[in-house]
Amino acid sequence: MKSLFARKPIAVMEESANGLRRVLGAGDLIMLAIGAVIGAGIFGAIGTAAAGQTDAAGHVVRSGAGPALVFSFLLLGGVCALAALCYAELASMIPQAGSAYAYTYATLGEIVAWIIGWDLILEYAVGNVAVAISWGDYFKTLTGGLLDLPVWLTTGYRTALLSSDPQVHALLDTAPRFAGIPILVNIPAFAIVMAITWLLLRGVRESARANNIMVVVKLVALALFIVAGMTKINPVNYHPFAPNGFAGIHHGAAIVFFAYIGFDAISTAAEETRNPQRNLPIGILGGLAICTVIYIAVGAVLTGMVNYKELDPSLHADPLAYALQATGMQGAAWLVALGAVFSMTAVLLVFQYGQPRIFYAMARDGLLPQWAAKIHERTRTPYVTTIITGLFVAFWSLIGDAGETYDLTNIGTLFAFALVCVGVLVLRHTEPDRPRPFRVPFVWPVCLGGAAACLFVMKGLPPQAWVRFGWWLFIGLIIYVAYGYRNSVLRRASRGAPSSR
Ligand code: ALA
Repeated sequence: MKSLFARKPIAVMEESANGLRRVLGAGDLIMLAIGAVIGAGIFGAIGTAAAGQTDAAGHVVRSGAGPALVFSFLLLGGVCALAALCYAELASMIPQAGSAYAYTYATLGEIVAWIIGWDLILEYAVGNVAVAISWGDYFKTLTGGLLDLPVWLTTGYRTALLSSDPQVHALLDTAPRFAGIPILVNIPAFAIVMAITWLLLRGVRESARANNIMVVVKLVALALFIVAGMTKINPVNYHPFAPNGFAGIHHGAAIVFFAYIGFDAISTAAEETRNPQRNLPIGILGGLAICTVIYIAVGAVLTGMVNYKELDPSLHADPLAYALQATGMQGAAWLVALGAVFSMTAVLLVFQYGQPRIFYAMARDGLLPQWAAKIHERTRTPYVTTIITGLFVAFWSLIGDAGETYDLTNIGTLFAFALVCVGVLVLRHTEPDRPRPFRVPFVWPVCLGGAAACLFVMKGLPPQAWVRFGWWLFIGLIIYVAYGYRNSVLRRASRGAPSSR
């Protein structure tokens, strides 16, 4: 039993760290944060958070925040700040890429690390399914006049199945059929994932310069939305302000949490940060604060331009472009759609790059088969896992629905955040003397508060997300018992058995 919780010594991790140079300042971290974070959450999920969601039978899946959505963003800014501080401490003392997986291996032991690694598939791969679907929605807006693809080629099967819009739901009957099954596929979402996978296989990755350009594109697109939209605010739309009270704000926060995912990615830059005690919190909290302010402004303008009910994802899956179009600003709508497509392409690239590397780290530790750790000789990329990730994300994007995918991603990511918060406390207890380039201030309230706050946001997700998450963890545990438990490099070493590698 004890060996299930075997911990990977931090010293071993330090040996395998690359000895990167400390060159990044707080400003660089802020740019990294904005680059990783702004994407489908603010361009797509925001509509669902404001309007809520009903299923095809008319049952309420979640209640909408309405204009009080701004409080959802505020709440999430606080929750993420607590979790981000905890990430920063672990990242600065465990200088290894692999994010939460590596940190939990050192703090909470192998089985928890496996759960986190398995869970991160929800954040990275499943998250990218949602981004790709939202990308497809804005791509449609962008190319509306030029490319006239039939609806059954731009709507995934699950979207039609779950839609509360009778016209979209009717596609189940009207779409062409193959072997009796309606053909409902999202070709744009599928195509962008395949294109990104191809780029990654060629060894492309986002450089700091490309990230900076993308940050500018994102900020310009959102600034354009805010400035143009402000001229069309109709105060009538702010009544009622919180149509579903606190439940709406809570449910809204649970889905629009997606807009904040990616903060954990900056913590991986900890070992390259100058003066981490000062720069990490400024970078992480500064980036969070900037995004939170922008999100609040976007939320306030959006819900002032149109009635929040119109933002129902079954009616309009491209809420920012829709609001501009609905208020007569076609040109601005097109430009914002263009910015959205670029922003989400960057997010897809970052996450599609990250997932195979998490698989790689797990395979190197013996928790996944060795073929998952294969590196291509010429391009130096983990090509096997890049292809598997690409096919998995592309296929699911083809038939999936954005809403249920946001839910699954959020529940998995929040759970990982909560475990990281707990991990900081555990490590303070088990290794109190290990140098910590960055220490969480007020560690007890921050860590316990962070974990509790993540669980609280999770509670705002629909019951179905919990059931699916439970199944996901269960399947993961079976795989661990069948494979990782026997092949773990750490456990083999502790038993004195030769490594299988
Ligand atoms: N935060 C990222 C997005 O919204 C995942 O696309």
